[in-house]
Amino acid sequence: MLTQVKDNVFYTGIRDWELRLFHGHELSTFNGSSYNSFLIRDDKTVLIDTVWKPHTDTFIETLEAEVGIANIDMVIVNHNEPDHGGGLIALLERNPNIEVVCSVKGVDVIKKHFDHPNWNFHPVKTGDVIHIGKADLTFVEMTMIHWPDSMMTFMSGTNILFSNDAFGQHFYGQSIFADQVDSCLVWAEAFKYFASILAPFTPLIKRKVAEVVALNLPLEMIAPSHGVIWRKDILKIVEKYAEWSEEYHEGCVTVAYDTMYGATKRMAEAIAKGIEDSGVPVKLYNTATSDQSDLITEFFRSKGIVLGSCTVNNGALRSLAGVVDEIRGHKLKGKIGFTFGSHGWSGEAPKHLQQDLGKAGIQIVQEPVTAQYTPSTEELAACYQAGIAFAKKILE
Ligand code: FEO
Repeated sequence: MLTQVKDNVFYTGIRDWELRLFHGHELSTFNGSSYNSFLIRDDKTVLIDTVWKPHTDTFIETLEAEVGIANIDMVIVNHNEPDHGGGLIALLERNPNIEVVCSVKGVDVIKKHFDHPNWNFHPVKTGDVIHIGKADLTFVEMTMIHWPDSMMTFMSGTNILFSNDAFGQHFYGQSIFADQVDSCLVWAEAFKYFASILAPFTPLIKRKVAEVVALNLPLEMIAPSHGVIWRKDILKIVEKYAEWSEEYHEGCVTVAYDTMYGATKRMAEAIAKGIEDSGVPVKLYNTATSDQSDLITEFFRSKGIVLGSCTVNNGALRSLAGVVDEIRGHKLKGKIGFTFGSHGWSGEAPKHLQQDLGKAGIQIVQEPVTAQYTPSTEELAACYQAGIAFAKKILE
């Protein structure tokens, strides 16, 4: 039996409680995820999105048993990343007459993924409407949020916005609805999802959220393509997206370091103590042992980013290279930082980190703090003072 979402709309997705990594090995998903697909039974039988390819067999078997794939008239492809478009081939193989509705760019994306140029494509753009019986489907392009082909679909009558990746979470819970699961977990995952996937697109998201709000749609549900469906206080997630798109921070600091024998770690702790004693919340992370998705989420949350490494082979330890590249790639804005590290003789790491952090878009507000071999009492005191000075700039 398919789970009813609302009226004539049913859930046909896959809820993946085993998933722990997403986008290959790039993103952690400690609470699983889901690939949400929906079936609309109107005069037309319409499918909204499919699922990730490894789950295609289950997806197809369920559809065959519940509706009969020969009876499906149309599939709306809001976005053809393989986690949503993975079931298209199997679907169209069984029923080549299915109309494939997607954005104009979506036609190209689908053709490049699957060598089937003769599928029954129906490209749509913002404002286009398709009548499926009692309900109308209206489309809103979401170009580069986060792929060229991305779009949303609004269904009249049920007033559901099928928002695809937007407003989603990598989360598996005991229900498909947000109001029936642990709200702390859902909101933490929604924030991590935004910070680790959507942060690079914040200028576009800001404009798009304003555009969607201006449409004044009578929203009763937002059904993203990952995680749970929002059906209570649904504008809260829209408002959060607007807030997270505005050079977001919570006034805190993240100190992230890598260390060989613990000297740089002691410096990190002294810097953090100076920050904390100044009344600014601060958290410490070892970049070599921390989850990278959680780390970028903490950077996104922070106003200050402090990076440290001891020097090896005239540079920083290699875990810092990945961290700086993540900061650059996520285009974090409105954040300040400085660097530190211990060394034996040459001591280039803090300077290199400073240059790289600056190039990654973080405003460098004070010079690096250094120590030789095991930091002395005086050198640790300098770290503490650097923390106090940095906290003052956070509070300005
Ligand atoms: Fe969930 Fe962009 O795919």
